Amino acid sequence: MTGYAVTAQFYDPMTEASHAHVRAQITDALNGLDARSHPIVDIGAGTGLTTRAIAAVLPETEIVAVEPDPFMRPALMTRIWSDPDLRRRVSILPMPVLDAPLPPVIAGAVASASLVHFSPADRARLWTLLEERLLPAGRIVVEIQCPLSREIPETLLATERIGGVHYEGWASAVPVDEQRLHWHLTYVARCGDVEIDRRSTDHVCWVISSRDVLTEARASGLDGAVTGDLVVLGKAASTT
Ligand SMILES: C[S@@+](CC[C@H](N)C(=O)[O-])C[C@H]1O[C@@H](n2cnc3c(N)ncnc32)[C@H](O)[C@@H]1O
Repeated sequence: MTGYAVTAQFYDPMTEASHAHVRAQITDALNGLDARSHPIVDIGAGTGLTTRAIAAVLPETEIVAVEPDPFMRPALMTRIWSDPDLRRRVSILPMPVLDAPLPPVIAGAVASASLVHFSPADRARLWTLLEERLLPAGRIVVEIQCPLSREIPETLLATERIGGVHYEGWASAVPVDEQRLHWHLTYVARCGDVEIDRRSTDHVCWVISSRDVLTEARASGLDGAVTGDLVVLGKAASTT
């Protein structure tokens, strides 16, 4: 998959603030997890914003950051390399998670803004793969982004200023069918009144609701609960 060729350079300024509330929910969901002996898998680590947040809330934990996109991965590598603590404990795996040589035992996994890239068949494989590796007291934290396939009018995602350049990110979506949305994203950069850059890109993403995640996960021996924008899963037998 090379779907982030356009988005990658704008990803941090367009999402660091606008996605911060979800990252806070993710760190709350991981808080207190005993992950000292086994790693957490960051599924679709992107540029590493959530990887860094996981590392902050679990300061003794190793992280396996899985990121297949060759345009996102350089930012991830730079973020990890530039921080001695992250460099010591984050491993970057450069392939789709279903093809990755994951550790046989994991304390947990996070899918932050990445489940939309998994088809129903891929999700079924993902839940099984995670359940087989998860410690009895482990946690899987999944962000629900698009529960329904419905038209989304052009919406301003974020604005940021970097030096003298003002950036905007815009998004709209139309249904492909009941399970998929076709997203159109546009990034604009301006110096004063002069537009210096404008780039667009398209993604076809899967929609999934928290209820469907729970149903699918239960079929693979996981169970859990919805909390805010997340579904937090554990081994079915250990879920209270
Ligand atoms: C919107 S970004 C989210 C980045 C990051 N998790 C965050 O919270 O900012 C989604 C990421 O999922 C990755 N991705 C897509 N398909 C994947 C797969 N099969 N396995 C792992 N990652 C995948 C994409 O390459 C992309 O970097």
